[in-house]
Amino acid sequence: MTGTSADVSVGGKSVELPTRSGTIGPDVIDIGTLYKNTGTFTYDPGFTSTASCESKITYIDGDEGVLLHRGYPIEQLAEHGDFLEVCYLLLYGELPTKAQKDDFDYRVTHHTMVHEQMSKFFTGFRRDAHPMAVMCGVVGALSAFYHDSTDITDPHQRMVASLRMIAKMPTIAAMAFKYHIGQPFVYPKNDLDYASNFLRMCFAVPCEEYTANPVLSRAMDRIFILHADHEQNASTSTVRLAGSSGANPFACIAAGIACLWGPAHGGANEAALNMLAEIGSVDRIPEYIAKAKDKNDPFRLMGFGHRVYKNYDPRARIMQKTTHEVLGELGIKDDPMLEVAMELERIALTDDYFVEKKLYPNIDFYSGITLKALGFPTTMFTVLFALARTVGWIAQWNEMIEDPEQRIGRPRQLYIGEPKRDYVPVSKR
Ligand code: SDX
Repeated sequence: MTGTSADVSVGGKSVELPTRSGTIGPDVIDIGTLYKNTGTFTYDPGFTSTASCESKITYIDGDEGVLLHRGYPIEQLAEHGDFLEVCYLLLYGELPTKAQKDDFDYRVTHHTMVHEQMSKFFTGFRRDAHPMAVMCGVVGALSAFYHDSTDITDPHQRMVASLRMIAKMPTIAAMAFKYHIGQPFVYPKNDLDYASNFLRMCFAVPCEEYTANPVLSRAMDRIFILHADHEQNASTSTVRLAGSSGANPFACIAAGIACLWGPAHGGANEAALNMLAEIGSVDRIPEYIAKAKDKNDPFRLMGFGHRVYKNYDPRARIMQKTTHEVLGELGIKDDPMLEVAMELERIALTDDYFVEKKLYPNIDFYSGITLKALGFPTTMFTVLFALARTVGWIAQWNEMIEDPEQRIGRPRQLYIGEPKRDYVPVSKR
């Protein structure tokens, strides 16, 4: 590969492919003309070596454990910012001035209610329906209520839809939780910050006043920041692919929620906590480490490993610190699952298998312990991930729509099926 091109020879044909360099990170080879000039596709299931787009939103250096949002390190944003400030940054590209922040907070706060008719959707679900199933259905249905912000060619309508999604996800998530536990819905209050409003909608009951604990609200807000965006992960790529067909933003976000639900992705926080509960005690850890290493056993250590991070997930470090803050504030001294988690991490980080494969704890390893301590059932963990990731999905969706190079996503394949053959009448089979 020279400075600006890569020479590829295949099937007796040669082609010079242009390369591109980003601000930081690996260069890319533009293979757009490869098939036309050589009749050959590239092959990369799982897209381990494939860039699907240009983006300015998030940068990850997996080897160094670096995560930047519009250039700002996640550690600094989590320490000094709040979630709506990070939402503004992801959407608009710059940190807001005080006036811009106040205006953005006001606009989001005053869009937190959902159409009253939406509450009827929930009654169609069984009470024991998984809240992620409810989220897929109800968020997808938003496009039935907000026709005035589904014209994706209109930048104003795109921004209205973006704000509506960011504002209404906490309300819908809280409604899914309340329906799940058989309690009445709680309306948002405009005099509360984003995280406190969400905690109140989840945990307030009509029988008594509810005031969110500021330490827990700050922890919730920081958990939202840590989950806000993460480059071209599976659910973000799903939102981009759905959006590339011109689907409306609410349908695209519903597609992202469906993808995030998988245990290999956002469902890992629920799976990680269930795994810690199943392990139960420190003395059973070696048994599970052996299962994770056994090629014939499908068991994996949930909350460990990552497609990009081959170092410690920077979000996991902040998550671990938040876990201790929440447990300390709640006076939870010796949480057995935290004890198992910390010993499991200690063992895994010294075990040759995990060291050789560069398997470190990811954001999902500690988040479950924190969310359980905050009062959420494991079935709500991925809902909270979806709530926070909505801004990342929306920012990436907007960037995709505005990208002049963007076309409908339509991958090809390596066909390994039957060659052409003629129909055989059933009498002759
Ligand atoms: C998220 O992409 C993102 O950015 C996602 C995310 C985001 O913010 O959007 O960061 C959120 O999804 C975090 C990941 C949460 N998932 C889990 O914690 C589930 C457990 N982890 C694994 O399923 C796995 O590590 C993945 C899915 C996260 C990554 O899978 P890859 O990149 O396809 O890696 P792999 O499965 O090919 O694993 C490489 C090797 C394999 O062994 P070999 O075939 O090379 O012998 O490592 C092994 C795997 O068997 N391995 C594990 C393991 N993870 C990988 N072995 C035991 N336990 C594990 N957790």
